[in-house]
Amino acid sequence: MGLDAKTLLNKLKKEHSLTLDEYRYLLEHRDCESMEIAAGYAKEFQNQYYGNQVYIRGLVEFTNFCRNNCLYCGIRRDNQNCQRYRLNKQEIVDCANEGYDMGFRTIVLQGGEDFAYSDDDICDIIRSIRSAHEDLVVTLSIGERSRESYRRYYDAGARRYLLRHETASPELYAKLHPAELSWEHRMNCLKDLKEIGYQVGAGFMVESPGQTMRDLAMDLKFVEEFKPDMCGIGPFITHQDTPFANEPSGTLETTLFCLSLIRMIYPMVLLPATTALGTIHPRGREMGIMAGANVVMPNLSPASVRKKYALYDNKICTGEEAAECLECLKRRMESIRYQIVTDPGNRAGL
Ligand code: SAM
Ligand code: FES
Repeated sequence: MGLDAKTLLNKLKKEHSLTLDEYRYLLEHRDCESMEIAAGYAKEFQNQYYGNQVYIRGLVEFTNFCRNNCLYCGIRRDNQNCQRYRLNKQEIVDCANEGYDMGFRTIVLQGGEDFAYSDDDICDIIRSIRSAHEDLVVTLSIGERSRESYRRYYDAGARRYLLRHETASPELYAKLHPAELSWEHRMNCLKDLKEIGYQVGAGFMVESPGQTMRDLAMDLKFVEEFKPDMCGIGPFITHQDTPFANEPSGTLETTLFCLSLIRMIYPMVLLPATTALGTIHPRGREMGIMAGANVVMPNLSPASVRKKYALYDNKICTGEEAAECLECLKRRMESIRYQIVTDPGNRAGL
C-alpha cells in the first residue's frame, strides 16, 4: 500500500469526504493492508453508532413481472425463461403478518416494475398492513413511478423507499440499460422521494460490466453528497439468460472495500450486507458486517416463489421457509459476535 492510501484513509476518517480523484486512487490501489485499515475505521464508526447490533428487514418479493429490460437483470422483460408470478393482496399481507409475528418491525415490498398493481392496489396493501400493525414500517422498492404515485403511497403510510441509483455515471447507466430508461429520470425519482419525506435507500452494483474505478469513485462521491438513509450495494452477478451472460461477476474484495468506505463517508448510514454478497461467498454477509455493514434482509417471500425471483445465477436463500432464513442469519451473526435486533433503526417511528 502506498503511503498516500493511508493518508487518504485517515483524511476520510476525519473529514468524511474526499475528491473524486482521491476515491479513485483508493480504489485503484486497494490491497490487503488498505482493506484492513478501512475495515478497522469502519468498525469504529459502526461500533460508535450501532454497537454490535444488526438490523433486520423482511423482504417480500411480491412480483417478478417487469416492464423494464435492464441488461443485467434476470427478471427483465425479455427473459422468456423466467417463470413469472404475482402475489395477491392477501398473500402479501400474510407475509407481512408472518414477519411481524417473527419479530420484524420493517418489511420491504419489492418487485419488478409491474403496473398490474395500480396505485390504488399498492395503497390498499400498505393500509391493510399498517392498520394491523401500527409499529411495522413499510418500505417500498417498486422502481420508478410518478411523484404523484410516490406521494399517494406516502399518504397511505409507506415511509421508506429503496431505489438504487445503480451507477452515478450517466454514460455507464446508458450501457447497462435500454434507451428508454434514463439516468436523469432515476435521479429525479430519488430527489422526489427525498422531498416527499421518505427515508430513501440508494445504492449501486459493484463491478458491473464496463464499470471503471472512476465510475465507482463517482458512486462514492454521490453517496457523500446525496446522503441516502440507506445504501444497498452488492456485486454484479451474472445471469445466464441476460445479454451479460458472458460477463464476469463482481468481486468480494471490491465490494467489502466499498462497504468500509461508505461507512466512513457516512457513519450513520444503514448499510446492508446483501444477498448478492452472500451469493458470491458463503460467508459474504458475515464479512460484509465485519467490513462495516449493519443490516441484513432475510427473505419473507413464500418458499414456493423464491426461486423465481432470480435476479442473478445461484441466488442463495431460495429453499428455506422464512423462519429458517431468520434463524440461519441469527446464527451467522452470533458466530461473529453480532446480535440481530428488530427495531426499525435510525429515525425509528417515522
Ligand atoms: N424494480 C425495482 C427497482 O428497479 O428498483 C426493484 C427490484 S430490482 C430487481 C432490485 C435491484 O436488484 C436492482 O436495483 C439491482 O441493483 C439489483 N440487481 C438486478 N440484477 C442484478 C444482478 N445481475 N446482479 C446484482 N444485482 C442485481
Ligand atoms: Fe425490472 Fe430488473 S429489469 S426489476
